[in-house]
Amino acid sequence: MSYQSSLLAPYSERRQRPAKGRSGQSLAHDSAHKHVSGEAVYVDDMPELARTLHVAVGKSSITCGQITQLDLTAVRSAEGVIDVITLDDVPGEKDIGPVFKGDPLLADGRIEFHGQPIFAVAAESFEQAKRAVALAKVDYQTDTPILTIAAALQQNAFVRPAHVMQKGDVEAALQQAPKMLTGELYNKGQEHFYLEGQVSYVVPTEDGGMKVYTSSQHPTEVQKLVAEVLDVPINYVQTEVRRMGGGFGGKETQAAQWACLAAVFAKRLKRPIKMRLDRQDDMQLTGKRHDFYGRYRVGFDAQGKLCAADIELAGKCGYSPDLSDAIVDRAMFHIDNAYHYPAMRVLGQRCKTNTVSNTAFRGFGGPQGMLIGEGILDDVARAVGRDPLDVRLENLYQLGDSTHYGQEIEDFPMAELMTNLASQCEYYSRRRAIADFNQQHRFKKRGLALTPVKFGISFTIQFLNQAGALVHIYTDGSIHLNHGGTEMGQGLFTKVAQVVANEFDVDIDTIQVSATATDKVPNTSPTAASSGTDLNAKAAQNACLTIKSRLLDFAQQHYGVSREALRFCNNHLVVSAEQETWVTFADFIQLAYQNRVSLSSTGYYSTPKIHYNRDQANGRPFFYYALGASCSEVEVDTLTGEYKVLRTDILHDVGRSLNPAIDIGQIEGGFVQGMGWLTSEELSWDEQGRLASNAAANYKIPTSIDVPAMSVTLWDKANSEETIYRSKAVGEPPLMHGISVWCALRDAAASVANYRVNPPLNTPATPEQVLNAVQYCQEHGA
Ligand code: MTE
Ligand code: HPA
Ligand code: MOS
Repeated sequence: MSYQSSLLAPYSERRQRPAKGRSGQSLAHDSAHKHVSGEAVYVDDMPELARTLHVAVGKSSITCGQITQLDLTAVRSAEGVIDVITLDDVPGEKDIGPVFKGDPLLADGRIEFHGQPIFAVAAESFEQAKRAVALAKVDYQTDTPILTIAAALQQNAFVRPAHVMQKGDVEAALQQAPKMLTGELYNKGQEHFYLEGQVSYVVPTEDGGMKVYTSSQHPTEVQKLVAEVLDVPINYVQTEVRRMGGGFGGKETQAAQWACLAAVFAKRLKRPIKMRLDRQDDMQLTGKRHDFYGRYRVGFDAQGKLCAADIELAGKCGYSPDLSDAIVDRAMFHIDNAYHYPAMRVLGQRCKTNTVSNTAFRGFGGPQGMLIGEGILDDVARAVGRDPLDVRLENLYQLGDSTHYGQEIEDFPMAELMTNLASQCEYYSRRRAIADFNQQHRFKKRGLALTPVKFGISFTIQFLNQAGALVHIYTDGSIHLNHGGTEMGQGLFTKVAQVVANEFDVDIDTIQVSATATDKVPNTSPTAASSGTDLNAKAAQNACLTIKSRLLDFAQQHYGVSREALRFCNNHLVVSAEQETWVTFADFIQLAYQNRVSLSSTGYYSTPKIHYNRDQANGRPFFYYALGASCSEVEVDTLTGEYKVLRTDILHDVGRSLNPAIDIGQIEGGFVQGMGWLTSEELSWDEQGRLASNAAANYKIPTSIDVPAMSVTLWDKANSEETIYRSKAVGEPPLMHGISVWCALRDAAASVANYRVNPPLNTPATPEQVLNAVQYCQEHGA
């Protein structure tokens, strides 16, 4: 941590004042200053060791087919080139699929997507490596690629079998429903666009071991895969991650390939190897958010009360399974969002396409499912001619209802949360003002939408819900903290340090958090599923509790007092006997050390209560739900389709916040990223399956001028489940507040047909799409 340690301050200044940085306080991110000044060290900033080599990959120039001839002679003799490898040179396991096989480290003869790495080059400089790979002569026999979900569905091309979740007799309920409508929606994927691209630096150690510095959300998996690829036991490899310049899910599994390639060279050459993707390679060679196609039949009554839905979701997985099984599952888990369907059937398809393998991205399929679910609510509201907010409120889950996967709704103040937001942002009066505005303006139309988010917290793969931590107290009272979570900008290190500070009631600046390292805390889960704080802060707390209990045992004996007479307070141990004695934490720790008390402990945590039987698609996959709602207003130019998001109000549930400043930052950032996904960020491939949106110039993430006037309020209520200090996870859920922008755009388009037509609006809702939606409403509204 970069805080000035208060252990250096004179005692008179520290004396019995409240500890700084307790949990619940709005502390700045511990690296905030370093991020801004450039002092924060990322892998590519590390000083290079002597003899370091740099790697580039040779990429396929076709999209689908077979390599018939590979001539690397010119590559090998190019300037600066030291070594060239193909899959045959990999000494151990050749497939690095994280859950299921299907991801060869380099192409195994078969080409599955345009740009697929075929061989790799290690050279004296990065530029030399890049120049050399262009010299390969490759002949192919080409096959017709499958490039779309539609083609995959038609040809039964899937990376994993389909899966169904069902509740009630859906056909009967649909037949009996007074009204029914059908619809479909296509939402495109999203590029992670982390500021720091994929990078690994591998240094050979003694006895054939490897030290791997990487930008990965999953150091343990990188460690395991490097070990497998090199054919050595896992304990020969150590992975270290100090921080990432953003991960967003893109470094959950897909940081491993580059670490493994570097490791193969490091082993062959006994030299340090760096592999860093430039931006174009990063965009071309790494997976993105899955596109999803959804189609549905939904039954409801004249008031818009939902009776049943039959929904088919199809995710575009790319060429291999990667995490797609769990991602399509999470889309299915979130199709209901906050609403009770008495009967529901969801079918999830995992489509195989000849594109890069899609992967985790903030929300992990949840946003794609939820978007389709929210589209359904708007469709139903317009079909019965009511305000969508009223229809939403009337369909919310009630306590005791069960989801379509059998999880009971136990704590669900969503109606209160949404009505609070509605009055805070004056939804109904603005609705009337918008009606007036739209009457008065022929070519400018405004739209408004208030949408909820209910997001399930836990990895849906049960065993991943565990974490470990390591806490040492040194003899001057300074504390060293380490845990299995990785820092990617989300503020995890700050929050966990706050929890440790809280446990001993010491200043946060007396705590140092060190880089995530597989030799400090082993067998960790990825920092993902928004669970970083929930899991690692609990593990760290447990380590503190172990040390605390030893310290209190000792103090009890030493001071001859009862346990109740002892407490940690304001950087002191307070002994409240006849005369209250305050001993500084540092002095007390020194005393404990001299009396041979162990001052170091591991801590472990596993999430209680969760269980899920996937074969029966039934159980309680989520420990709890994070809730929130947002309201967005947009203004559309109906002649061009151009629009502006005018204002967004968000009320979001983070339980009892560990750090309101960081939580609000996550909510703002999540919303903007979600808005980008649904509005301006457009991935495009040409007819041959080549990625056209491969640079910042042709892929538009939101800029500061795209951000609306925003207000974020925390719904500051304790989590009813026993999470760390009753907080809730915050990382992914706010992304789905971007959905209110999309709903508001549809609302604006529907206004031209007096809200009687449901505008088709696939995402991203670029101005072209919005213009189409407006014209559709104009044509069908008469
Ligand atoms: N915030 C920043 N600044 N950078 C990131 O890469 N990743 C998001 C979210 N917020 C991310 C972020 C994703 S995808 C997840 S799963 C969570 O942070 C992971 O961290 P947490 O579990 O500690 O919240
Ligand atoms: N979320 C994020 N990452 C994951 C999950 C999940 O539910 N399961 C496996 N990896
Ligand atoms: Mo986040 S998509 O679970 O890394």
